[in-house]
Amino acid sequence: KKMTDPKQERTFIAVKPDGVQRGLIGEIIKRFEARGYKMVAGKLIWAPKDLLKNHYKDLADKPFYNGLVEYMSSGPVFAMVWEGKEVVKMGRQMLGATNPLASMPGTIRGDFGIDVGRNICHGSDAVETARREIALWFKEEELSDYEFANKSWIY
Ligand code: PPS
Repeated sequence: KKMTDPKQERTFIAVKPDGVQRGLIGEIIKRFEARGYKMVAGKLIWAPKDLLKNHYKDLADKPFYNGLVEYMSSGPVFAMVWEGKEVVKMGRQMLGATNPLASMPGTIRGDFGIDVGRNICHGSDAVETARREIALWFKEEELSDYEFANKSWIY
């Protein structure tokens, strides 16, 4: 799908295994829905290690890489694609900073987490990354292309 309209921007958001175990799937969906974003895809998936290694391949030389892959494969994650105006940057803001001391109350991490190794959720860091991550986690036919009936209340 061509994404020329900025309102059609998409991002990959995942509730990590700790977020799933703590019952935060609904809370995270609720925040994106309430803000006005549109869910284009969503599924519970116990990700195989090769998928996670590919997902985090840019971090392969970081000291926390192996632990990160272990943590992410310790249980199912809830993987989603969200669409809407500047959703990549806004999604990152809604998630909050990676460093727990910098993640502000009001953000997902700032409201629910204290440890960078158990930080509840993932969000793509750029539009290009989002494209790569969406293609990695979802098949094209899993993405629903639809419009909100009353989008004029959001835009
Ligand atoms: S970095 O160092 O600039 O690449 O960090 P950042 O881009 O903020 O984070 C990339 C992902 O690595 C995770 N991360 C960590 N996991 C465990 N331990 C430590 N110390 C750590 N530092 C960063 C961070 O949560 C990011 O994962 P995602 O899934 O993208 O949120």
